[in-house]
Amino acid sequence: MTSATVNREVLPTNVTPLHYDLQIEPDFKDFKFDGLAKIDLKINDENTDFIKLNTLEIDIHSVKLAKDIKPSSIEYNKEDQISEFYFPKGTMAKLAGSATLEIKFTGILNDQMAGFYRAKYVDKLTGETKYMATTQMEPTDARRAFPCFDEPSLKATYAITLISDPTLTHLSNMDVKSENVVDGKKVTSFNTTPKMSTYLVAFIVADLKYVECKDFRIPVRVYATPGNEKDGQFAADLTAKTLNFFEKTFGIQYPLPKMDNVAVHEFSAGAMENWGLVTYRVVDVLLDKENSTLDRIERVAEVVQHELAHQWFGNLVTMDWWEGLWLNEGFATWMSWYSCNKFEPEWNVWQEYVTDTLQHALALDSLRSSHPVEVPVKKADEINQIFDAISYSKGASLLRMISKWLGEDVFIKGVSQYLTKFKYGNAKTEDLWEALSVASGKDVSAVMNIWTKKVGFPVITVKEDGNKITLTQNRYLSTGDVKAEEDETLYPVFLAIKSKDGVDNSLTLNEKTKTVELKDSEFFKLNSEQSGIYITSYTDERWAKFGKQSELLSVEDRIGLVADAKSLASSGYTSTTNFLNLVANWNKEESFVVLEQILNSIGSLKATWAFEPEEVRDALNTFTRGLVSKRAHELGYQFSNSDSFATQRMKVALFGAACSSRDPIVEKAALDMFAKYVEGDKKAIPALIKPIVFNAVARAGKPEDYERLFNIYKNPINNDEKLAALRTLGRFKDSKLLERTLSYLLDGTVLNQDIYIPMQGMRSHKEGIEALWGWLQKNWDEVSKRLPPGLSMLGSVVVICTSGFTSFKSIDEIKKFFNTKSTKGFDQNLAQSLDTITSKAQWLNRDRDLVKDYLKKNGYSK
Ligand code: BES
Ligand code: ZN
Repeated sequence: MTSATVNREVLPTNVTPLHYDLQIEPDFKDFKFDGLAKIDLKINDENTDFIKLNTLEIDIHSVKLAKDIKPSSIEYNKEDQISEFYFPKGTMAKLAGSATLEIKFTGILNDQMAGFYRAKYVDKLTGETKYMATTQMEPTDARRAFPCFDEPSLKATYAITLISDPTLTHLSNMDVKSENVVDGKKVTSFNTTPKMSTYLVAFIVADLKYVECKDFRIPVRVYATPGNEKDGQFAADLTAKTLNFFEKTFGIQYPLPKMDNVAVHEFSAGAMENWGLVTYRVVDVLLDKENSTLDRIERVAEVVQHELAHQWFGNLVTMDWWEGLWLNEGFATWMSWYSCNKFEPEWNVWQEYVTDTLQHALALDSLRSSHPVEVPVKKADEINQIFDAISYSKGASLLRMISKWLGEDVFIKGVSQYLTKFKYGNAKTEDLWEALSVASGKDVSAVMNIWTKKVGFPVITVKEDGNKITLTQNRYLSTGDVKAEEDETLYPVFLAIKSKDGVDNSLTLNEKTKTVELKDSEFFKLNSEQSGIYITSYTDERWAKFGKQSELLSVEDRIGLVADAKSLASSGYTSTTNFLNLVANWNKEESFVVLEQILNSIGSLKATWAFEPEEVRDALNTFTRGLVSKRAHELGYQFSNSDSFATQRMKVALFGAACSSRDPIVEKAALDMFAKYVEGDKKAIPALIKPIVFNAVARAGKPEDYERLFNIYKNPINNDEKLAALRTLGRFKDSKLLERTLSYLLDGTVLNQDIYIPMQGMRSHKEGIEALWGWLQKNWDEVSKRLPPGLSMLGSVVVICTSGFTSFKSIDEIKKFFNTKSTKGFDQNLAQSLDTITSKAQWLNRDRDLVKDYLKKNGYSK
């Protein structure tokens, strides 16, 4: 064992699994399931006479080894979720290296969206309340569904059999081997899977219908409960297209005989990449394209491509332990943008990556409580917390950085060699670097190890002296208070200096400080195309110059400058004036992505100022209107199919920003649309701006409109509309209405899976932030019971309910509350939330007056 593996709490390796024969029969009356597991084991140590494997909330009825050997005792280690079977001394020595362990058991068909669980829904055709039985195993809930060696490197093959009422559909990772009716029950046996990890096992027993796409070698389907399946065609077609593309890109065939996608009614994540049987939250796979926003269309496309990328990254080649989770999630994230960019070049997803993925990565990684990409994890309840922006977004950003450094073709070649070498096995981060080094001839590990093993990223400070620039790196913290001992890492930084002559890709900053001589310093910018993971802090004069040089900068550069200027302002590296002047100068910005970044950045300033006096917040709205109103009026909000994607996005962004900054003309237009809509004119609100219109209605705050939106939630035209209405319910500021919305969170009106949606609406205004926190304290016992710490949802809820605050006083209050509670399963999330509040509180303390004066001096307030 290396020092890194010493701390892992793993099963003993005296026996390891080779094959599981599983038989499962759900009972929809008692919400239980009967199971029979026959596990073929390899005996690695004949001198031990015990077998330890994972189980959770599983009732074991009988255990037999090699047909007839019974354990002399059975124990359960609750803390580690391990069942221990002790056999008579000398048992293993007699078994010649292998044996089958047979376990009969009963599990709970639970309502916690984990393991083998029940998902409740209302049948669209009959109106009856029904259940589907489905699985969610990742990261460590396979042990709720069957006794197993629940670790990613203990790969085995699976032969699964499902038993139920004959009217129900049976699905699993593989195709059907045989289907029979025995004693009035349907018995379906599936073919044996390739070698795979426990967290990818899946089976479903439910009333399902499907649509299909025939453009791929093997059957590609989308399943949904009857009446919903038609909306699966978009995902089915995209699945076929994506599988074709990935097979060609990697030069490795998708190895299973079919690919099913299933829309699941209650689902804790967005989607899950089970091999051959991807499961989804309904809204992330079914799409009513005519009645959806562009965001929804892009989201479904992203999710489908992400889960399909996992069929290679994760399923075929798996991280050897959860520490390598980023290999799964970072890759799937990068890969989904890569394929999306090939399929829909108009969407310019790599530009959006800079506003989206990169900024998420930087935001989390600028907190003291961030963690390295490769983070040691010991226990089940620590694992769910690393499904975060570090594993996904920083992971993907690192891959983008390497792919730019090596060149995309070389990168893909190395990746494909890595996949080929480790297929059906497990790999470590080091194995990927090795393959990329071979493909490129460059020493990839030397550069990348620092980026994956160390927390954080640097801010590069630029000092100018004529044509000479001096660059210095320091760890960046959004609280701006980095201590010497936190600032010891020297990150290898690709400088990529852009000038009028092009980009110089030859320079790296490996040291603390370096001076570079430019030919001409009239125009230069570091981090060309924003491919590196760092923030650049320029002089005040340079920021002023950028404001006038927008035509020399690419879209990615402009997004990066806006985002960096805001980060530097909030952490105190440079004045907030630089940021405000920069965006004020770019009020004719033509790229919708840059505009979105400008609006996001102003949004985070506004969120920090949420508890400040009305007049300052009004002035910030006036400032925003100065950027968007005129153009919102000119471009208008009629949408036509002949509009390009970019024009549509621009119109949506302008309309949204004008509305939220209280432009009276646009606001009235929105309210008129809503009035017509509720009178029955279903075309009155263009689908692309429906959520914005709903928000405008909530901002106006009429109780009768709350009722109308609630009715839309109850009887929507589609799922997207349902959730848009639900989110909006949280935007009403009246205390009675807020209370009403909060009461829906626990009384069954809102599904557990959707609990965070109205919360997001509330988190956008100060009355809501306060109400949410009050609610969480009052209902803590119930909330923590409903969202067990094994799921990532409790952590998300804690973050949503606390991170909206902006003062040190709130930090004390939050700390005090959690002092007496177990923070198991969300301690990281909580620490991150508190760091976020700290950085806002410091920004306010520093720049409260400055911002007020700026707004006054420039005519945005009196
Ligand atoms: N493997 C994850 C699902 C998951 C997340 C399982 C957390 C267990 C805990 C899946 O591939 C995933 O990442 N889904 C994302 C969607 C994606 C487009 C970012 C999700 O669930 O939001
Ligand atoms: Zn994923």
